[in-house]
Amino acid sequence: MTLVIDNIGELVTNVPALGAGPLGIVENTSVVIDGDTVVSVGAAGAVADERLDAGGRCVMPGFVDSHTHLVFAGDRAEEFTRRMAGEHYDGGGIRVTTEATRTAGREALRAGLARRLEEVHRAGTTTVEIKSGYGLSVESEAATTSLAAEVTPESTFMGAHVVPTEYLGRTDEYVDLVCGPMLEAVLPHVRWIDAFCERGAFDADQSRAVLEAGRAAGLGLRLHANQLDYGPGVRLGVEMGCASVDHCTYLSDEDIEALAAGDTVATFLPAADFSTRQPYPDARRAIDAGVTVAIASNCNPGSSYTSSISFCIALAVRDMNMTIDEAIAAATTGGAAALRRKDVGRLAPGGPAHLTILDAPSRHHLAYRPGVPLIWRTIGSDYVQPATEHETRRRKASP
Ligand code: NIG
Repeated sequence: MTLVIDNIGELVTNVPALGAGPLGIVENTSVVIDGDTVVSVGAAGAVADERLDAGGRCVMPGFVDSHTHLVFAGDRAEEFTRRMAGEHYDGGGIRVTTEATRTAGREALRAGLARRLEEVHRAGTTTVEIKSGYGLSVESEAATTSLAAEVTPESTFMGAHVVPTEYLGRTDEYVDLVCGPMLEAVLPHVRWIDAFCERGAFDADQSRAVLEAGRAAGLGLRLHANQLDYGPGVRLGVEMGCASVDHCTYLSDEDIEALAAGDTVATFLPAADFSTRQPYPDARRAIDAGVTVAIASNCNPGSSYTSSISFCIALAVRDMNMTIDEAIAAATTGGAAALRRKDVGRLAPGGPAHLTILDAPSRHHLAYRPGVPLIWRTIGSDYVQPATEHETRRRKASP
C-alpha cells in the first residue's frame, strides 16, 4: 500500500543533502511512502494508492524519546503538590511507586503502559525507550522489563534505580542482587542497562559495578547522572562508553570536556527540572563545546509525568537557550544517537516512514505555541500497543 502526503508546507528531513540547512528543510513538497518505508521526498505529482492532503502543514520525523519509565502503578500527585509548596526532590518517592508496582499485577501494569503509550503516540513520538526501575525485586523487574519488551525494542533494565526498602543500609548487597540474579532474570527482555549515579542512590563504584555486569552480559550502557548535584556520574558514563548520560543538570567544566572528547550523548530532561524546580542544564555551553545532545521526556510518575516532547522543546528553547532547530534536532537525531540508532529521527528514501505532522505551518510553532496540542497525525512507529491477556491467549490458541 502506497501513500502520498502532499501539499506539505514545510518538510523537516534532518538530512542536509535533501534540503536547506542542517535540518534539510524542503518547502511546498510531498513524501511518498510504501508500507513502513519512505520511497521519495519531493516527487511532484506522485501517484499512490492513498493520498493525504497535509494542507500546508509542517511534516517532520517522529520524535525519538530516548528516556522514559512507562511501566509503573500508582500516583504521586500529592508529592508533586508538596514540592510546589517547597518540599525538596531527592528521588525517595521512587520507593512509593515501587510498592504500588509490586502489588499491581501484570494486567494492571500492562493497561497503564497501554494508556501511556497511546499518549506517547499522540505526542508525535515514533521511537520510545522504556526503563524498568519500579520493581526492584527479581520477580518484579523481570515482569516490568518483559512488559516493556512486548512493546519496544528499546527496553532498559534499571534495577539500580534506588535501594528498595528491604535493603536499606545494605546497598552493596543490593548491588550484588542487581548484578547477579536480577540481571539474569531480565536479560532476555532488555537491550540496555542503566543506573542512578547520585548521592542517595548509587555511588560511582556501585554504578560502575552495575554497568560492568551489564556489559559482560552483552547489554548497552546508559547512566542517570548529575541530576541533583555535581558529581562523578557524567565522567564515569563517558569513561565506560555509555551511549548516553541522562539529566546533566549540573555540568562542570571537566564534565563538558569529557563529553566533548568522547562519544557519549548528553541527554537533557527539562520536564524533570521543571517538575522538581531544579535549575535547567546549561545546554548552550555543552553545544558550543561540541557535545552531542538529546532531549527526552523522562515520562515517570515522580519527577516528570509528561510524555510531551513538544513541551520539552519549548522549555529547551525558552530556558536552556537552545535554538528551535537545535531543540528539534536534539529530540529526533539526538535521541537516535542516544540509542545508537542511525535509522530513525530522519526522513529519507529507504528509511522508516516514522513521521509526525504538526497542525501548524512551520516547526517554530513547537516552541511558539507551548501547551497547545500541535500534533495533527503520527504515522508509523517502532513500538506497538501491548496485547491484552485475552488477545495473547487468542493468538496462542490460533494455529
Ligand atoms: O529520571 N532520577 C531517577 N529516576 C527518575 C525519577 C523517578 C521518580 O522520581 O520516580 C528520573 O528523574
